[in-house]
Amino acid sequence: MLISVLGTGYLGATHAAALAHWGHDVIGIDVDPRRVHLLAQGVAPFHEPGFADLLQDGVASGRLTFSTDPARAAEAEVHFLCVGTPQLDGGDGADLTALWAAVEALAPRLRRGALVVGKSTVPVGTAARVQERLDELSAPGHEVEVAWNPEFLREGHAVEDSLRPDRIVLGVGSDAAEARLRAVYCLVLADGVPVVRTDLQTAELAKASANAMLASRISVVNVLAEVCEAADADIERLTQILGLDSRIGPHYLSPGIGFGGGCLPKDLRAFSSRAAELGVDTAAQLFGAVDEVNTHQRQRTVDLACRLLADRPRGRSVAALGAAFKADSDDVRDSPALAVATSLAALGADVRVYDPEASRHLIGRSDLQACETVETACAGAELTLVLTEWQEFAVLDPVELGRVVARRVVVDGRLVLDPRPWTRAGWRLHALGRGEPARRVDAAARRAG
Ligand code: UDX
Repeated sequence: MLISVLGTGYLGATHAAALAHWGHDVIGIDVDPRRVHLLAQGVAPFHEPGFADLLQDGVASGRLTFSTDPARAAEAEVHFLCVGTPQLDGGDGADLTALWAAVEALAPRLRRGALVVGKSTVPVGTAARVQERLDELSAPGHEVEVAWNPEFLREGHAVEDSLRPDRIVLGVGSDAAEARLRAVYCLVLADGVPVVRTDLQTAELAKASANAMLASRISVVNVLAEVCEAADADIERLTQILGLDSRIGPHYLSPGIGFGGGCLPKDLRAFSSRAAELGVDTAAQLFGAVDEVNTHQRQRTVDLACRLLADRPRGRSVAALGAAFKADSDDVRDSPALAVATSLAALGADVRVYDPEASRHLIGRSDLQACETVETACAGAELTLVLTEWQEFAVLDPVELGRVVARRVVVDGRLVLDPRPWTRAGWRLHALGRGEPARRVDAAARRAG
C-alpha cells in the first residue's frame, strides 16, 4: 500500500520505517529540509536504538523515501499525521499549529477516498475538527475520511514498541476505515496483537489518559519515596512489595528525580486544560498535583545537593552524570537531569556534565561544561550526581571513580547504584527514597548493641 507520513520526528520517522519494514511504500514528509536530507540518506537524525538499521533497510529497499514537498504525498491511500503538538507558549494547552498546517497542505491534494489517520497526541475533539476541515478543503465528492490511531511508543524503545506494540487502537467511523487500517497493520495483527476498535474521541483520549496514568504513577511512587526517607524505610523494597500485587504490577515504579521528556509533562497539562474546557475541574486538581509533585522532585534534589555542599554551592565543583530525560535517549526536552544541573549552576556551582548521547545539547551553554567521559566530569568533584538512569552509570567502578573525585559523596537520583560496593569504597551515598546513610549506620549499630 502507498502510505504517507507527515512529520518525521521520533514518532513519524520510526512509524515510517516500520511501515516500510512491513512491505508498504512510504513517503515521509517534513518541513525541515535538514532532517529530510539526513533521513533520505539513511542517516538517523536522533539517537534511538535500532532505528538507524531499520531506516537504512527501508531506504535501501527503495520503499522508504522522504521529501519536504507535500505534493509527493498526493497518491497515497493512507496518510498518517505524526507532527508535534507541543505545549502552547504561555499556556497549558496543546499548540496545534503544525497539525493544522499539515491538514491544510494535504487537503487539496488528497485522492478520492483517502484515509487521514491521526497519530499525534491531541485534545479530544480535534479529530472531528480535522474531518470538518478536510470536508471543506478537499475536492467535492472526494469523500475523505478521518481515523485516529494513537501511538504509545517510548523514546529509547521506539523501534521495539512500533514493531511489537502492546495494543493497536483503531478510532474509526466506518467499517471501511477499520478494514483499511487492519490492512496497514496486517503483519503485526497476525502476531496476535490486541486490537480495540472505538470512536474517534475515545481513541484521542486513549493516549492522553495513558500518559496521565503513567505520570500519576511516578508521582505516587515519588511521594512514597519521600515518606520512606522521612521514616528511614526503603523505597526499593516497598516498590518490590507493591509490584508483586497483580493489580499494581512491577513496571513503571522507579522513584527518582521525576518524569520529563517531550510527552508526559506537556500531555498531562494539555489533558487537564482540555478537561477544564469540558467542565471537568477535578482533572486539573488531580493532575495539577501530579505535576507539582514531579517538579518538587527536581527542587528536592537541588536542596539535597546544596546540603551536601554545606549550603555553599558557589564555586564548588559538581559532576552531573546524565543530561537526557531518560536513558537510551539523546532527548533533553523538559529533562529533570538538565533542570537539576542548571539550577545548581545558577546557584554558582561549577557544574560539569557527562551524558553518553545528549552532550551535543550543551554546546554553546556558558553555565554548564560538557565533558567527554565520566572521569573528566568527575575529576576534582566535591559532589557527584547521577541524574539519568544510563546503564553506563550503574556499572561504574566506585573504587576507580573514588580516585578522581575530591570528595566521595554521590547522590543517586535514579536509584541505579548498588549501595554495597559504593559504601565499601568509601563513598557517602545518598539515594532519593532511602534514609540518610549516617542514620542507617547508626540504627544498625544500635541494633547490633
Ligand atoms: C511516554 C510514554 O511512556 C509513551 O507511551 C508515550 O507515547 C510518550 O510518553 P517517553 O516520554 O518516551 O514515553 O518515556 P517514558 O519511558 O514513559 O519515561 C518518561 C519519564 O518518566 C522519564 O523521564 C523517565 O525517566 C521517568 N520515569 C519512568 C520514572 O521516573 N520512573 C519510572 O518508573 C518510569
